[in-house]
Amino acid sequence: MTARGQRTAPPGQPAASLKVELGRRSYDIFVGEGLVAAAGRHMLPVLAQPRTVIVTDSNVAPLYLAALEAALDEVDVEHTAIVLAAGERTKDFGHLRQLTDDLLDARVERSTTVVALGGGVVGDIAGFAAAITLRGLACVQVPTTLLAQVDSAVGGKTGINTAHGKNLIGAFHQPRLVLADIATLDTLAPRELRAGYAEVVKYGVLDDPAFFTWLEANGKSLLDGDTDARRHAVLTSCAAKAAIVADDERETGRRALLNLGHTFGHALEVETGYGDSLMHGEAVAIGMVLAFDLSVRLGLCPAEDRERVRRHLAAAGLPVGLGGLAGSSVSAGALLAHMGMDKKVRAGKLTFVLVRGIGKAFIAHDVDPGDVGAVLENAVTA
Ligand code: NAD
Ligand code: GLY
Repeated sequence: MTARGQRTAPPGQPAASLKVELGRRSYDIFVGEGLVAAAGRHMLPVLAQPRTVIVTDSNVAPLYLAALEAALDEVDVEHTAIVLAAGERTKDFGHLRQLTDDLLDARVERSTTVVALGGGVVGDIAGFAAAITLRGLACVQVPTTLLAQVDSAVGGKTGINTAHGKNLIGAFHQPRLVLADIATLDTLAPRELRAGYAEVVKYGVLDDPAFFTWLEANGKSLLDGDTDARRHAVLTSCAAKAAIVADDERETGRRALLNLGHTFGHALEVETGYGDSLMHGEAVAIGMVLAFDLSVRLGLCPAEDRERVRRHLAAAGLPVGLGGLAGSSVSAGALLAHMGMDKKVRAGKLTFVLVRGIGKAFIAHDVDPGDVGAVLENAVTA
């Protein structure tokens, strides 16, 4: 590592790759160490012209922008950089307008590629700007948070938040390539790492109980920096997501399983103002526990499974209830109201991902708001 965190050492192991199978729009996901430094070589085959605009944020730029620029220089690919303010509040219309103006100021052409270097915020807003600028620019995702590597960079969901809710304005815009350099996780703040870990746990809980058991045994090493554990977790998560996206790209069915914990989680994020008090992954952790609470209440899921999930998330340092929200005056009523505005509402009914146990998630469309309210009341008063 250099003093500023850039990893210049060669990768310890060759990068592993897998594919998101979407016919002519299929793309590779590479997972390994040193992929930022090797990005030019990996990107070259997917670039329509040797010209890119890198979109990154104010935390990631000092750490990895120079390495990415050097990698593009190596293969004679032109690049300019746009640096956004770091943080969830950047995912809004104001920043989107500025970003599209900046892309046009940079004289992008239809064949220019946008490279999103950063976490889920950069990936989502840069991907969306790419989707709508000149009616669609190609995009390469270079995720640098655990959350982005295991979830947001894969699958083509892009967008921004509004006062009405999370990610309500956006587009499906698949990337041409995903480069998940796990060495970038070394500079991630522990809290950010833990927030991403919630999305890793989600894949075990969804339909892979063996992975959940593996996480119970190896999650601590992963969080403590074990490279092999990180590689395995990122690859397993990406493989799970790639399979679901290949099966249901536009979320007409099975892809909605990936929203486990998100209906509750998004309501919490709206209520807490997309600020630092609750990160997206933390909201998902609480949301997963609430989804288990609801499933147990409905007699669908053994209480032991809920306890196992709650215990594991708590052991990873994630919030598992509403009590710890700093300065929170979160009310069950307010959260229910936010859920009414959630895009997962169909014909006035609440759609939830519920569970029959660890690894047994399913989509329920007709959940009684009374049961949801009771679960929230319990959580608020616990
Ligand atoms: P983020 O992008 O805000 O990154 C978290 C923080 O880490 C930021 O301050 C960032 O600057 C910093 N950072 C990023 N990489 C770093 C590194 N390697 N070293 C040091 N600091 C680094 O947040 P996130 O958790 O990555 O993503 C959350 C967003 O992702 C939310 O907006 C959520 O809605 C979205 N999301 C999208 C999808 C999707 O399918 N598109 C899926 C899940 C989540
Ligand atoms: N993160 C949910 C999805 O990509 O569908």
